[in-house]
Amino acid sequence: MSWMKPLGNTGMMVSALGLGTVKLGRSEGVKYPGSFRIPDDREATALLAQASDLGINLIDTAPAYGCSEQRLGTLLAGQRERWLICSKVGEEFENGQSHFDFSPEHTLKSVERSLRRLNTEAIDMVLIHSDGQDLRIINDLGTLQALSDLKRRGLIRAYGMSTKTVEGGLAAAAECDVVMLTYNLAQREESQVLDACGRLNTGVLIKKALASGHLEENIEDPVQASMDLVFAHPATSSAIIGTISPEHLEANVLAARRALGQD
Ligand SMILES: NC(=O)c1ccc[n+]([C@@H]2O[C@H](COP(=O)([O-])OP(=O)(O)OC[C@H]3O[C@@H](n4cnc5c(N)ncnc54)[C@H](OP(=O)(O)O)[C@@H]3O)[C@@H](O)[C@H]2O)c1
Repeated sequence: MSWMKPLGNTGMMVSALGLGTVKLGRSEGVKYPGSFRIPDDREATALLAQASDLGINLIDTAPAYGCSEQRLGTLLAGQRERWLICSKVGEEFENGQSHFDFSPEHTLKSVERSLRRLNTEAIDMVLIHSDGQDLRIINDLGTLQALSDLKRRGLIRAYGMSTKTVEGGLAAAAECDVVMLTYNLAQREESQVLDACGRLNTGVLIKKALASGHLEENIEDPVQASMDLVFAHPATSSAIIGTISPEHLEANVLAARRALGQD
């Protein structure tokens, strides 16, 4: 299987691994196993250069990831065309707390703010950052319609949803360009959503492929086993891994390439 894959029907080609950037912008209210220090600009620049050298072309960020978007806007200056950027709408994280607004008005303001922060004229994909009530958001709140308008206006190139339920994932698969879903050794329920995305040719981004770092201890090589799992499903477009460790980044790419039969 190849390292670059089409992202559903979007016309974009994504690398098998993407870089998650929670840890570039936020260290409070996260569920990682250990505490960590947010990398400084020198370290973050080196991490992005390493990711690019390793063949990664996809970066995942969100307004809810602290200063992640603003930092990327600065750090990616002069190399914007090298990257596909995925950001989100709906979740805000302020004063240590999340709050949610999925209204069309907020969606528009949020995307305009992301464009400014990311210092770009268009965002490659914008996903609804679900609060868990996936179906209510999809059916009742008009968020997807607002994103569809933004796509028509050329401010975003694709849209979708980061879902938290199987039912929501299935509905999103039918209505969106891209679904971001959880799939790892301990949480496999959303494989049904992967199946649906495969049938519908909807792009799939996997989040938490390494269970946010809570790796299984009774497996010899849990990173390899995780990559083998996510890439065994033909509908996986890319797995977004959140790392700030150069060693882990390299190991993850090696493991992903092995899972794809490229070693
Ligand atoms: N939309 C949403 O609702 C949502 C929710 C969660 C996540 N996401 C996106 O998905 C991305 C990934 O999710 P995630 O960060 O929660 O989980 P993840 O990618 O499953 O795990 C990241 C954690 O695993 C550790 N790790 C990475 N590679 C490792 C390795 N080779 N060996 C041991 N530990 C390793 C990282 O620590 P080190 O930094 O030390 O490597 C980090 O603590 C996020 O960054 C974000 O972009 C989206």
